[in-house]
Amino acid sequence: MNISLINKKIKDIDVLVEVVILKSTNHLGKNEKELLDNIFFMKKSFNTYFNSLENRLYVSCLKLKKENIKTAFYKAVQFLKNTKIDSFKIDIIQNEKELNIKDIAEGLIFGNYEFNNYKSSKSKKDFQVFISIEKSKKDEKKLQKLLNETLIICNSIDFTKDIVNSTPEDYYPQIMANDAMKITLNENVECKVFDENYLKQNSMNAMLNVGIASRHESKLIHLSYKPKNVISKIVLVGKGVTYDTGGLSLKRESGMVSMKCDKAGGASVMGIIHAISALKLPFEVHGIVGAVENMIGGNAYKPDDVLKASNGKTIEVTNTDAEGRLVLADCLTYAQKNIENIDYIFDLATLTGASIGAFGGYTTAVMGFSEKLKKKIEKASKKSGELVGFLPFNDYLENKLESKIADFTNTSSNKNGGAITASLFLSKFIEDKYKKKWLHFDIAGPSYRQENWGYYSYGATGVGIRLFFRFLEDIK
Ligand code: BES
Ligand code: ZN
Ligand code: ZN
Repeated sequence: MNISLINKKIKDIDVLVEVVILKSTNHLGKNEKELLDNIFFMKKSFNTYFNSLENRLYVSCLKLKKENIKTAFYKAVQFLKNTKIDSFKIDIIQNEKELNIKDIAEGLIFGNYEFNNYKSSKSKKDFQVFISIEKSKKDEKKLQKLLNETLIICNSIDFTKDIVNSTPEDYYPQIMANDAMKITLNENVECKVFDENYLKQNSMNAMLNVGIASRHESKLIHLSYKPKNVISKIVLVGKGVTYDTGGLSLKRESGMVSMKCDKAGGASVMGIIHAISALKLPFEVHGIVGAVENMIGGNAYKPDDVLKASNGKTIEVTNTDAEGRLVLADCLTYAQKNIENIDYIFDLATLTGASIGAFGGYTTAVMGFSEKLKKKIEKASKKSGELVGFLPFNDYLENKLESKIADFTNTSSNKNGGAITASLFLSKFIEDKYKKKWLHFDIAGPSYRQENWGYYSYGATGVGIRLFFRFLEDIK
């Protein structure tokens, strides 16, 4: 999709088809108004109707909220995909209100995303989109800059979605490492990939054991983006479980389907480095991804095993399906040992079904010790449109991780509050000096959904990326 700003009145842009967002039919001509009213077009938002005489595609949108604007343009592209139309124009002013260029572009790009690597007939349309603005040279430049930034971020989101949607037979830790390596084509990006020997030498037994029964070797990926003058240093740790069978605590039936999504945290971290290096922003960002496949086999790690993690703590395995926290435990330790003076340390992970139970599946569950930091994330959530909710820690739940034979267990003795106990487990791998700089993002729900929702298509969503860039705006 190619989106360009045109500094002309909409009627002077020489393109046949126009996409129009309708808040009501009142300002339309008599015939059109009658036509749309007859089919109750405005009864709900996001109906589409193509008037072939006027060459206008109408999308109903009862409330012109940012998120609705994105969905409206998403729907427009979804409609046009199934037509012969491959170029269209949009007036930045709709219903007498100037829309945000970011919202228009996000809606369009998300609408155009398609994952058809496994379809025998692949049809991806290359749309030409023209957006009419009437601006001074200075304002045009500003809008163009904003559009370029949005396109870079959306492109990285597509990169992340492709990773998450790829199937486990095709996408295993080495492939994830290869994709990370590709990001080093961008300026100031480096990537180190460590194999199982490294994990052994560095006593990263928690992560090592999760991947032990897989025929694919585990990889610890360390991406870094280090521009010249930096405002702050941020570490992002991502769960990159390329497939989660549950291990010997095997998942059942439908519980296993879609577990290719278990690499979504790692994939979003990679997407963020992909975007930030293209945007050339003044932040040092490290992306640590634990790429591992959780399988079964004669050499698999077992419930009852006790693993010694790289920070010296011992973990009694009570469930091999709680593998993400084991991977993250060693990755978090690696980050704190190898990177100095960290300002923020975040982890992104499809960690628990319980976070879906708590928030319903469209919301990222955020946990941590700093109320101030959570406030910043809340702000970023409102700006980006990515939904977040916060879950509180308490000592009683932490007690549920007590073990009779090791320092603690990997799952709670009580299944309630599972998202919180998973996060409390992770907190044991955060050094005191970083406790208030750390946040955990459980993206199990919104990172991958087996349905279309809002402006997201079936499957991966790239959640976490837009949220992160909005967070950066707050720490400049
Ligand atoms: N990868 C899963 C969590 C998950 C569930 C992600 C649904 C996406 C959708 C994780 O490794 C897992 O299996 N967690 C267990 C933890 C339990 C054993 C304490 C869970 O949520 O059931
Ligand atoms: Zn699991
Ligand atoms: Zn998992």
